[in-house]
Amino acid sequence: MKILVTGGLGFIGSHVVVELQNEGFEVVIIDNLSNSTIDVLKGITDITNMEPIFEKIDLREKGSVKDFFKRHKDINGVVHFAASKAVGESVDKPLVYYENNLNSLIYLLQELQKKESSYFIFSSSCTVYGEADALPITESALVKKAKSPYGNTKQIGEEIIMDTCKVVSGMNAIALRYFNPIGAHNSIKIGELPIGTPQNLVPFITQTAIGKREQLLVFGNDYPTGDGTCIRDYIHVVDLAKAHVMALKRLIQGSNQDNFEVFNIGTGKGSSVLEVIRAFENVSKTKLNYKIVGRREGDVIAAYADTTKANTVLGWKSKLSLKDALSSAWKWELNNS
Ligand code: UD1
Repeated sequence: MKILVTGGLGFIGSHVVVELQNEGFEVVIIDNLSNSTIDVLKGITDITNMEPIFEKIDLREKGSVKDFFKRHKDINGVVHFAASKAVGESVDKPLVYYENNLNSLIYLLQELQKKESSYFIFSSSCTVYGEADALPITESALVKKAKSPYGNTKQIGEEIIMDTCKVVSGMNAIALRYFNPIGAHNSIKIGELPIGTPQNLVPFITQTAIGKREQLLVFGNDYPTGDGTCIRDYIHVVDLAKAHVMALKRLIQGSNQDNFEVFNIGTGKGSSVLEVIRAFENVSKTKLNYKIVGRREGDVIAAYADTTKANTVLGWKSKLSLKDALSSAWKWELNNS
């Protein structure tokens, strides 16, 4: 079966393409290369011995999306990653984020709704929960008002899909709400490639350890947590990628209970920033240069997943540890430098 992966050369997308090809799916990638490079295609091909079809398309161009589906009439499964994801940038450029993240989604759904049956996996985020009232966070936790245009595009994106699935018979979708994806493929042929200064913790740690950055700033140690730093649920990107394959198979097999479902994808375990630093120092046998500074605006205190629904309904469970993830992220950094 042929599957379209939009943003398939990005960090999570590329790992999903690998897992899909390993499971026998034929993959077509659309990517506009705005936050990825064409070299990733080689990494995917080396790992799987199979070169996915690649088309450089910008999904904001409605005509190109239409034309793509005219040329690939046999595609009715889509895993959609193509979107902008920098929280801070979204505050400065809201219209860029709303246009990029929402228009592309709408154009894809407009094409899929013409089909007798279609399957859609949406890349969502735990950011939809904001500062949750209870931990661990279940899928029934309230969706709080988003703190950034980026977060808002994930909330609105889910609503657009839900509303569409209500009226388009034959359209089935799953939104996966990721916690904090980190790490790299164990082949070290694909991984995270932040352009410019990394905004996320783990790439900043590895770049500091290798000397590309002078010092890691730890944003706040006065939070009401064990050691005062924020707590997150760091999930290995390969585990996360496998969840997409399971979600897609669930839809294809018709095992879904509803035509729009959501699942939390995390490990269920929270780690503080200082715990991540210690774990990284252990696996890399390096000493990290870091300094505690003030809080970063918009950060929630703690977020980790209740994975019961993913475990029991989707049949997916994370297998790799924080140590595995940090070790692969470090090998990836060493290899890239
Ligand atoms: C952020 C977004 C989330 C988004 C994800 C995608 C917020 C509130 N959340 O997650 O919606 O899906 O990125 O990339 O913006 N930290 C430091 N120093 C650094 C970087 C991070 O101390 O240089 C700390 C942060 O304060 C936080 C933790 O590390 O406590 C994780 O940060 P990060 O990797 O940026 O992820 P989130 O903020 O959880």
